[in-house]
Amino acid sequence: MSIRLGDVAPNFKAPTTEGDIDFHEWKKGSWAVLFSHPKDFTPVCTTELGYTAKLKGEFAKRGVKVIGLSVDSVDDHKKWAGDIERTQGQAVNFPMIGDPDKTVANLYDMIHPNANNTLTVRSVFIIDPNDKVRLMLTYPASTGRNFDEILRVIDSLQLTDGYKVATPVNWKDGDDVIIVPAVSNEDAKKLFPKGWDEKTPYLRVVKQPNR
Ligand code: BEZ
Repeated sequence: MSIRLGDVAPNFKAPTTEGDIDFHEWKKGSWAVLFSHPKDFTPVCTTELGYTAKLKGEFAKRGVKVIGLSVDSVDDHKKWAGDIERTQGQAVNFPMIGDPDKTVANLYDMIHPNANNTLTVRSVFIIDPNDKVRLMLTYPASTGRNFDEILRVIDSLQLTDGYKVATPVNWKDGDDVIIVPAVSNEDAKKLFPKGWDEKTPYLRVVKQPNR
């Protein structure tokens, strides 16, 4: 069955480079980014894992735990980690799931047979503290992802969970936001007492409320 936004992220038990985990227990109460890469000892994946490890402080600031996966073994992940540290100048500092029997890959539909019938594509799931799936991304093997974009989405999700706003195109933390259409002008006056810029009745731009 396919996973959709708002679904509970399927739980699993798996070996990782930091020991065996039960996924829901491991992330308990935190946001999580679960991402797959196609294969260990490959160039694009090497750059992605090094860069993601460099973002550890940014993920930590937002209360996010990161975990990677491919259909390689934990032993291979550990051997590959040396190459990542040497070539990217950064050691991997998050667990990598070993999934050679494809249990987790199949559970999360990370293998797209018409792209490649044995390897995982570049999937990303952002999962909230209640274990709900809040974002899914799927990239092809040949295109490295933009992990800054993943942080940007987390900023948007955390903001819009707390305030009745949505974030516009290319928004980044600190930029103006949009009052959600479900809020009447009467209620908006109470929620945003400093006012807003009404471009149209449905496009009401307001300063980011938590700034
Ligand atoms: C890579 O990470 O470079 C890669 C992995 C699988 C297929 C193509 C590229």
